Amino acid sequence: MKVKKAVIPAAGLGTRMLPATKTVPKEMLPIVDKPAIEYIVEEAVASGIEDILIITNRGKSALDDYFDYAPEIEGALLRSGKRAEFELVRRSAQMANVFFIRQKETKGLGHAVLQARHFVGDEPFAVLLGDDIMMGEVPVTRQLIDAAERYGAAALGVQRCTSEEISKYSSVEITELEERIYRVTDMNEKPSPKEAFSEFAILGRYVLTPGVFDILENTPPGYGGEIQLTDGIRELCQVSPIVAVDFDARRYDTGNLPGFLEAMVDFALESPQVGAWMRDFLIEKVRGF
Ligand code: UTP
Repeated sequence: MKVKKAVIPAAGLGTRMLPATKTVPKEMLPIVDKPAIEYIVEEAVASGIEDILIITNRGKSALDDYFDYAPEIEGALLRSGKRAEFELVRRSAQMANVFFIRQKETKGLGHAVLQARHFVGDEPFAVLLGDDIMMGEVPVTRQLIDAAERYGAAALGVQRCTSEEISKYSSVEITELEERIYRVTDMNEKPSPKEAFSEFAILGRYVLTPGVFDILENTPPGYGGEIQLTDGIRELCQVSPIVAVDFDARRYDTGNLPGFLEAMVDFALESPQVGAWMRDFLIEKVRGF
């Protein structure tokens, strides 16, 4: 199984980040000096993905523009001899083959993924949620693809969380196959701590097989009245193998304020431009408490 295509659902309304997301898509909010979406596309490319479909909706055309050339800015930079800045601006337009489609109604993540059917065709594909940014040695999507290829299965990125946290995510019923890799036998969306199958939650990364599309076509609205990807994958696991990968990376949910701020601070600390400054600034702040 070779995974060469990825889908990035970015059509959500971003209500947890209002008012910033009233006119700016949350995927375009900067984490230090790049919009969040660029980190996601970088992860896909570093994982061996060649073609990427971003699912957007009305009011998110800034995303399309970001992966296009910007002749006015680029021309001005070249004319003033700012070659390095030019390269930075050009980069996003040349990172991968990036395609766009709109989800015309915000009917949930499962419905968003369904919009990728024609792009994906009959191949396995990766799904990277637009607001989950990962920091780790090996790209998380690569970790999932490796497991998917080894087991000839779909793969879900999971991590342990507390019983209070699990009700924000989907929990998985699992049995261990090898260190950090499990066979998935069931799952449920936003369970109460009692309903949760395990302490492992699905967190923003998937490798799916194309059989999921027939299922999603017929998946009724579930939790919150939305067509849930988890409900589709739950059915998929009855008919084809799925593994869960306890991925090795730190995850930032940049779709909410604490996660967004954590990412901002950690990525700033890693930045060659502002890392040392950020460290001194934080030390000074902490001394003041
Ligand atoms: P979220 O649960 O984070 O929803 O979606 P949201 O609308 O983006 O944000 P809030 O909760 O209102 O603040 C998880 C992922 O699914 C995508 C989102 O873009 C995000 O990547 N999504 C969700 C869609 O693409 N379409 C949908 O209809 C719903």
